Amino acid sequence: MRRDTPPFVYRLLGALPSRRLSLPSRYLIAVLAVLVSAYLRQVVPVMGLPYLLFIPVLMVIGFVLGLGPGLVSTVFSAGLAAYLFVGEPNSFRLSGQEWTANALYLVVNASIVAVCASLRHSYTRLRQFAATLERRAELRTRERDQVWQAAPDMLCTVRLDGRFASLNPAWSGVLGWDREQLVGRRYSMLVHPDDLQHSHQALGALAEGEILFNFENRLRHRDGTYRWLSWSSVVRDGLVYANVRDISALKAQARALEEAETLLRQSQKMEAVGQLTGGLAHDFNNLLTGVSGSLDLMQVRLQQGRYDEMERYLHLAQGAAQRAAALTHRLLAFSRRQTLDPRPLQVNQLVSGMVELISRSVGPSIELSTQLDDALWITLCDANQLENALLNLCLNARDAMPEGGRLSIETRNVSLAGIQAAPLELIPGDYALIQVRDTGVGMTVEVASRAFDPFFTTKPLGLGTGLGLSMIYGFARQSGGQVRLDSVPEQGTVVSLYLPRSGDSLVPASEQASPPTPGGALQGETVLVVDDEPTIRELIAEVLGELGYIALEAANGTAGLELLRSPARIDMLISDVGLPGGMNGRQLADAARAQRPGLPVLFITGYAEHSVLGYGGLEPDMHVLTKPFAMDVLAARIETILRGR
Ligand SMILES: Nc1ncnc2c1ncn2[C@@H]1O[C@H](COP(=O)(O)OP(=O)(O)OP(=O)(O)O)[C@@H](O)[C@H]1O
Ligand SMILES: [Mg+2]
Repeated sequence: MRRDTPPFVYRLLGALPSRRLSLPSRYLIAVLAVLVSAYLRQVVPVMGLPYLLFIPVLMVIGFVLGLGPGLVSTVFSAGLAAYLFVGEPNSFRLSGQEWTANALYLVVNASIVAVCASLRHSYTRLRQFAATLERRAELRTRERDQVWQAAPDMLCTVRLDGRFASLNPAWSGVLGWDREQLVGRRYSMLVHPDDLQHSHQALGALAEGEILFNFENRLRHRDGTYRWLSWSSVVRDGLVYANVRDISALKAQARALEEAETLLRQSQKMEAVGQLTGGLAHDFNNLLTGVSGSLDLMQVRLQQGRYDEMERYLHLAQGAAQRAAALTHRLLAFSRRQTLDPRPLQVNQLVSGMVELISRSVGPSIELSTQLDDALWITLCDANQLENALLNLCLNARDAMPEGGRLSIETRNVSLAGIQAAPLELIPGDYALIQVRDTGVGMTVEVASRAFDPFFTTKPLGLGTGLGLSMIYGFARQSGGQVRLDSVPEQGTVVSLYLPRSGDSLVPASEQASPPTPGGALQGETVLVVDDEPTIRELIAEVLGELGYIALEAANGTAGLELLRSPARIDMLISDVGLPGGMNGRQLADAARAQRPGLPVLFITGYAEHSVLGYGGLEPDMHVLTKPFAMDVLAARIETILRGR
């Protein structure tokens, strides 16, 4: 701290050791000083006025030795002057006027002495105060220095041109550089190249008066590696004051945590995939055994010539194949790739129509009730799949109430604003809500969290496939809705199914197009079949032959297109959607119609490939049939398309 130098006189006077002298010696010195000045007055007669010399001496006495000695020496000097220099020398014979002058001298000098003494007092107080202030400032500075020196955080000041102005010792500890190596250098020389741009921006923002909190970047250590630092900075008087923390360890921890989470997610995913493939393989093996066993036996009976038992095995094989188809259908429903036929639908009507079926399915021990909102909005969804979903939910409820209970189906309208829609992963808007409520055993948190997983079931082997809820989930999501579970163990479960409100009104049943009656092929009518699976091609060609059509076959899009470009007669295209060789079924159909406008197309597909078929429906005269299909269904579809034109 800068100290103001006091004037020379004050320094001199202040240095006089008056306060260190005892009181009697101060009085003694005062009296002696008066005697010495009287003596000087005696020996130096030119000194004029009798009292003149006493005045400065008494002022000094008052200032240096204090008020008491000052007053005593004033009285003493007045007496001495009266005796020695005024009136008749060496006697107190003075005129009245002289006595008055002497008394005046006494009063005036006493006042001067008092002023000098109080001046000294103030001066001493001022000095003490200054000393205290100085001590405090020193203490504060020392404290600040300690913080600067001993702080574990890195503290620094940086000039606005990006050069370090000062750094505390923590910097050397973290970055390995000596402070002298850093002061005056641009801090950007140490910044990681990837962090340069936003570091420059941060400095710019600081220069404009912003305060920076937890700004992160990487600075180079002396050994060439980088450290993650977090800066909190502010600009004062053209200097950046920064408190910087080394967060490398935190960053490493966060990275390790992230990696662990990724690994966990991966292993959970693998577990789910394992569960799925295991369940699938198990069910399919059973069904395949049914199909292949029946076929084997048919072969044996054929060889034995026992044709009468053939039909039985045929039915067994067909039954197993149908169950396999149902299984893949449920899987596709879960993967949201079933081919849906969404139409405007009045859910209340659908529920009312199902009450009979549901009450028969759940049995008499369960009391079924419905609470349907009369003003329920029309929804857009596939009616068959909704029936399927509702039935599945009611069967789950039945299984949760082996001793009986209450089952209710409720419907109502809900309008979801952004804040309500977000947790449901829905877009804000209007939804019809269908709730299936039971008073059954409920679910634990663990079961509820896995209930939608395909093949997850708590039911004994053979009683549940674990596909019911997964299918409902896939259906709801594919329909633009959502499904949620609320369950309390021992109290019951509510399953809420949200379906989007439809902008369209209901289509009266009478307006729905009725299929034309099949009438068989016309002379020379030709159908092009494109599928990479030879068995399917062969079977379709067989069906076409049965119906009297000529079948042309192609194994991929390019071969199919070649036929379409040839002059051959082609009345219809049946094509798989996923085709090898770079051209999918949709592209083939588009190319075909460019070549032959209005050519009817029937896509046959294993699942709904929206990216190919499009969400917004197909062009007129383009149709979809989902694999697997029964051959009579295919035949009816071909007839409908060709005859219905
Ligand atoms: N209403 C309910 N009350 C209690 N638990 C339920 C209910 N609904 C589902 N669960 C639990 O969720 C599990 C999965 O249900 P999900 O419908 O997917 O399969 P599942 O009923 O076991 O078999 P299925 O494929 O035959 O439907 C059930 O095994 C059961 O533990
Ligand atoms: Mg179920």
